[in-house]
Order: sequence, then structure tokens, then C-alpha cells
Amino acid sequence: MMSLNCRSCGRLLTRWWMLLKSQPARDVHCFRKKTPKAIENVIFRTCDSKQRIRFMTSQPESEKFSRLARNWWDEDGEMKALHSMNELRVPFIRDALISLEIAVPNTSKPLQGVKILEVGCGAGVLCEPLARLGASVLGIDTSDGALAAAKMHRGDAADLSELQYIDATLEDIVGAGTLRFDVVVASEVVEHVDNKAEFVTQCCDVLKPNGSLFLSTINRTQMSYFLAIMMAEKVLGVVPDGTHDWKSFVTHSEIKSYLDQGNAQIQRLEGMAYNPVLNKWTWCKNTDVNYILHAYKIDDTSANNTEC
Ligand SMILES: C[S@@+](CC[C@H](N)C(=O)[O-])C[C@H]1O[C@@H](n2cnc3c(N)ncnc32)[C@H](O)[C@@H]1O
Repeated sequence: MMSLNCRSCGRLLTRWWMLLKSQPARDVHCFRKKTPKAIENVIFRTCDSKQRIRFMTSQPESEKFSRLARNWWDEDGEMKALHSMNELRVPFIRDALISLEIAVPNTSKPLQGVKILEVGCGAGVLCEPLARLGASVLGIDTSDGALAAAKMHRGDAADLSELQYIDATLEDIVGAGTLRFDVVVASEVVEHVDNKAEFVTQCCDVLKPNGSLFLSTINRTQMSYFLAIMMAEKVLGVVPDGTHDWKSFVTHSEIKSYLDQGNAQIQRLEGMAYNPVLNKWTWCKNTDVNYILHAYKIDDTSANNTEC
């Protein structure tokens, strides 16, 4: 029953996407205007939400982020480290895409025409700056509260007209069968996911050949236990206590093996250090705690490369 429902979701999502594609060009790019709530509901609510998230993320994990909804956009609040991380991760993504000639340098909209899926977008803290750089961004998340905060913050801002949020899982997108993106971003998400191998592989599945995956997470080391759990959560309260489970952190070799399964290769991996006093991130050689990577999907000509 569950698989039937999800297959139907996939078919509906494909049809919806094809409908968008058939609109005149100036409308095609605007996900938001062409996504009435009713369609969204039909596509995504037909799958029971508990069933949808069972593969990847436990219900309490999603509810944790819903409870934080009110604070997501408080730049001095519980999510401040995610806001300040943008100072590193946004240029990291932009410059990597420029170096691959997917993005255009020296313009105010270097990501114009780049189609990005952000998996686990939360309240859109990363989606918004990427959309402002010109990208068409689809943000998905399993937390209703986070998505509500995302939509409210985006509002009707003219420079965010190509930013869309949908209550969907990666399985929904994969299930649609034909959706492919230039870029997939999974930032600070994989450490909250139960089945990490499947999650990373599915991130790769929805990439076009040679597409880019940007993933940031926390390494599972003694240092990360001390800094990310003890100091950040218990002592300094930089992030809410219980946000992270150390056992769920991911080592480089684990990520690499998941990427291998997804036919993707790491292009660059950098460490990021957080100064909680200044609320500032800096690049560092040490990748024992926070790290971000750029991987690209190896061109597989047999892959289904339907434009989206
Ligand atoms: C720490 S927040 C990161 C938000 C955003 N990526 C950012 O960096 O600003 C983690 C988010 O991942 C979401 N999440 C966890 N597991 C997920 C899954 N399997 N699919 C989609 N979203 C998920 C949570 O609901 C939460 O909003």
C-alpha cells in the first residue's frame, strides 16, 4: 500500500513538473507562482508523513526542528551558527560552480539558470542566499515547522521568486523518476539521518551527470565529541542541547564510501572552525570536527538525463 502511494506521488510529481515545463519561459522559472497549495497537498500529502520519513529520519528528529521554528531566522538565536556559516558555504558553492563553468563570474547573479535542490533546507537559511545569486532553488524538508518558517520568511520577496519550498523527502524526488538537478546541497543534514548511505546515494541519484553535490557535516572523532557536543551544546549552549548525537556524526571515509555507491567523487574537502564568541567561521586544515565537501557525479551516459 505504502509503495503504491509513493509511486503515485512520483507520477503526480512528474506530471506537475512537466506541466511547469510547458509554461512560457518567464513562468517556468518561477516555481512559487505555479505551485498552488492544492497541488502540493495532492502530491505530497497522499503519502502518510510517518511512512515517508521512516527510511531516513525518525519522527522525533523532525519534530525537534519544528519546535525550533520560531527561532530559525533569529540571527542571534539558536540557529546563529547556521547563519554565520553562510559566510563560508555560500562562496564555497558559488566558486566551485564558477570553476566548473556552471556559474558565471563577475556578475550579480552568478548562479543564474542553475537548478539547485537543497535537501533538509530547514527554514531556508542557505536557500535564500543561493536564490539571490540567481539560482532556481527547490528546498525540501521533513519538518513542517521549519518549512512554515521558510515560506513565511521568503514571503513575496521579488528577488526570491525562483525559490520554492515543498514538504517532501528525497525519496519523493527520487520516486518522481525524472527530476534531475545541476546541484544538490545537503548542509548539516546527514548527521540527522538514519540511513546515511541511502541518503547520500539518493542525493547523487537526482544529480545530472557531472552535477555537483555539496555536503557539510560533522566528523565522528574525539575532538568533535568535545567541541560539538560537550562545548557547543552542554557548556556554551551555542546550539540547543540534544541537537546532535555523536554516534550519528559521519567520518570522511564513510562519506567517501557512500559517494562511491552514488558514482560520485570528492573534488574538494575543507575543514571549518567555529568561534562561538565571535560567532564566526573560518577555513582550517583540520577536518576533525566540521567539514564541507564538493563532489561531482561521474558522467554516466546511460543515466536518465531528463532536463528539469
Ligand atoms: C541543522 S538543520 C539544517 C538546515 C539547512 N540545511 C541549513 O543548513 O540551514 C537540519 C534539517 O534537516 C532536516 N532533515 C533531517 N532529515 C531529513 C530528511 N531525511 N529529509 C529532509 N530533511 C531532513 C531537518 O528537519 C532540519 O530542518
